[in-house]
Amino acid sequence: MSKPDLIVIGNFPDWDRKAMSAHFTLHLCPKTEDCQKLPSDLRDSAKYIAFIGHQAFGDETMSVFQSLNTIANFGVGYDAIDIGAASARGIKVTNTPDVLTDDVADLALLMLLSICRDSHGAEKWVRDGNWAAKGNYPLQRKMSGARAGIVGLGRIGRAIADRLVGFDMDIAYYSRAPKQTPEGWKYFDTPQALAANVDYLIVSLSGGPATEGIVDAKTIEALGETGILLNISRGTTVDEEALIKALQERKIAGAALDVFLSEPDVDERFLTMDNVLLQPHQASATYETRKIMGKLVLDNLIAAHDGKPLLTPVN
Ligand code: 8YV
Repeated sequence: MSKPDLIVIGNFPDWDRKAMSAHFTLHLCPKTEDCQKLPSDLRDSAKYIAFIGHQAFGDETMSVFQSLNTIANFGVGYDAIDIGAASARGIKVTNTPDVLTDDVADLALLMLLSICRDSHGAEKWVRDGNWAAKGNYPLQRKMSGARAGIVGLGRIGRAIADRLVGFDMDIAYYSRAPKQTPEGWKYFDTPQALAANVDYLIVSLSGGPATEGIVDAKTIEALGETGILLNISRGTTVDEEALIKALQERKIAGAALDVFLSEPDVDERFLTMDNVLLQPHQASATYETRKIMGKLVLDNLIAAHDGKPLLTPVN
């Protein structure tokens, strides 16, 4: 029996494509606009799409496929996909929650520690021979025991907070409503109020219209000149122009960023600043986690084809 067709949008790792091709006949589209070039009989009959990346996947792309049943997204965040349009067309969308939580929280901790202790500059000090020539590296700031504010206490925000407890930090958070938390965690009902009461503001929200620009100019300024902003969510959640201005004018002490508005084309002004730590959207990027994410994408597609319940449905 011939295998069902699978449209693969974006650049999946070899091992995912290999595993997928044991169950499906793959048709590769590097970008959503490439789907228009697929043969018309395939566009009419294909039911399944595997999607990786952050390119917008809207109604126009969905309309290319007349029989589309399921879009399996590689990632917990599905803000690139127009879920309303998918639901209106009866298309199911799945994502990859939970399996990447540890890695994202780990990277948040690494970034926080690294920006506090300037591990990058300190290593360069050794490599450049400055230690022997000029003496000890300048003193840096202590992270343990400080006040952390989590914007968005979902699965990832909670995992970050749990790790910070191990560093004796005071935990405060913003979310749409108070959550069940260990005793002593403080709830604030706006990001701005949270920012005014912490040393580190850690953004771990989902992306999408509801959170666009939620960390605005006032929130950033409320952090104050010793405050540090960390964004591990989506570039869209922070007013990037306001952030750049606050960093340039030293209204906050620094920012550690894994995500950007126009990534991978990072705003050039960030590249010249000495008070930022920049990462290439790599919070989930370990072999272990990316392999499990890929497996979850495939398991969802197999379930869809077998008429079984989807493992991690979004809509
Ligand atoms: C991406 C992510 O999936 O899970 C998410 O929401 O942003 C990442 O894990 C990854 O960068 C591949 O696009």
